[in-house]
Amino acid sequence: MDRRLVLEYTRVTEAAAIAAAAMIGRGEKDAADARAVEAMREAFERVPARGTIVIGEGERDEAPMLYIGEKVGPSDEDNLPEVDIAVDPLEGTNLCADGGPGSLAVLAAASRGELLAAPDTYMAKIATCPEGKGVVSLEQSPTENLRALAAAKKRRPDEMTVVVLERPRHAELIRELRTAGARVHLITDGDVAPAVATCLPTSGIDMVYGIGGAPEGVLAAAALHCLGGEFCGKLQFRNDEERARARAMGMKDPDAYLAHGDLVRGDVIFVATGVTTGPLLKGVRRIGDRLHLHSLALRSETGTRRWVNTSVDANRFSFEYKT
Ligand code: FBP
Repeated sequence: MDRRLVLEYTRVTEAAAIAAAAMIGRGEKDAADARAVEAMREAFERVPARGTIVIGEGERDEAPMLYIGEKVGPSDEDNLPEVDIAVDPLEGTNLCADGGPGSLAVLAAASRGELLAAPDTYMAKIATCPEGKGVVSLEQSPTENLRALAAAKKRRPDEMTVVVLERPRHAELIRELRTAGARVHLITDGDVAPAVATCLPTSGIDMVYGIGGAPEGVLAAAALHCLGGEFCGKLQFRNDEERARARAMGMKDPDAYLAHGDLVRGDVIFVATGVTTGPLLKGVRRIGDRLHLHSLALRSETGTRRWVNTSVDANRFSFEYKT
C-alpha cells in the first residue's frame, strides 16, 4: 500500500465526518448517514486508487452508494493501485442523531483479498490489546477470558474494564463478567471506537466483548491489526439467506471461528475521524469560521499512528438543514 494513501484516505473520513456533523442531534439517523455516504463517495473520487468496496452500506439493491462490490476512485486514470475497502461512513448513526458520544466516520483499505468480505450481519467478537494475543478466545468462557487477560496484564480481574453493548442478548454475558469481577461499561451504540481504544493504554478500556455488527467487526480488526492488538470473531446469522450470502461472497465455512488473520491480513491502512466526541476521538467542533477535526490514521506496515488535527474553513461547507 502506497503510504501517501494514508493522508488521502484521511481526507475521505474527514469529508464524511463534516457532512454527518451537520446532522448531530437532529434525530434523523438515516439522513445523517446519507450525508456521510454521499460525502465519502465524492471524496473517494479524488484519491489516486481504484477501490472495491468489500464492506459497505449493504448490497447493491439496498444501498444506492458505497454498496458491496461498488468501485470507487477515479475511473478515467490508468495504472492506479487496486485496493479493497471497508467503510462505515457514519458508525453510530443513533449516537450522531441523538448527540451521543463516539460516532465516527471510518474506513480501512488493504491489498485485494486481504479483508474479510462479510455480509451485513452480526458477529460475536472480542477486541483487546496486544497483551491479549493468543490469550483470549471465543472458545473460552467470558470468565476464562477475563482472568487470562487480567493475568497477562498483571492485574486483578476486578481491575479490568470490559465494554459491552447494552442489549437484551448480552444479559447473561454481563452477569457472568460482573460475577467474575469485571467493571462492565455499557454502551448504547458504537463498538468500533472502544475496540480501537483497547490498544491505547490511557483509555482505561481492556476489552470489548459481545455481539455487534459484522462490518464494524472487520473495521475494528483492521485497526487492531495496525495497533498489534487481538481480535477474534464468529458471524451470527439471523437466517439461512444471510448464511447463503456469506457463501456467495466467498466464505467456505460461514460458521467458522474467525481468528485475527481470517479477518484481516497484510498491509492495511485504517482511518477514523470523530463526528461526536467519544473514547477515541474528539468530534467535529466549529469555532468561529473554522471546523476542527480529529482523526486517527494507522498503517500496519510500519505501525505508525498519526493523530491528525485538521482545521478547515467552515464557509466552504454547507450546513443547511431542511426538515
Ligand atoms: P450503525 O452505525 O449502523 O447505527 O451501527 C451502530 C452499532 O451500535 C455498531 O457499533 C454495533 O456493532 C451495531 O450497531 C450493533 O447492532 P444492533 O444495534 O443491531 O445491536
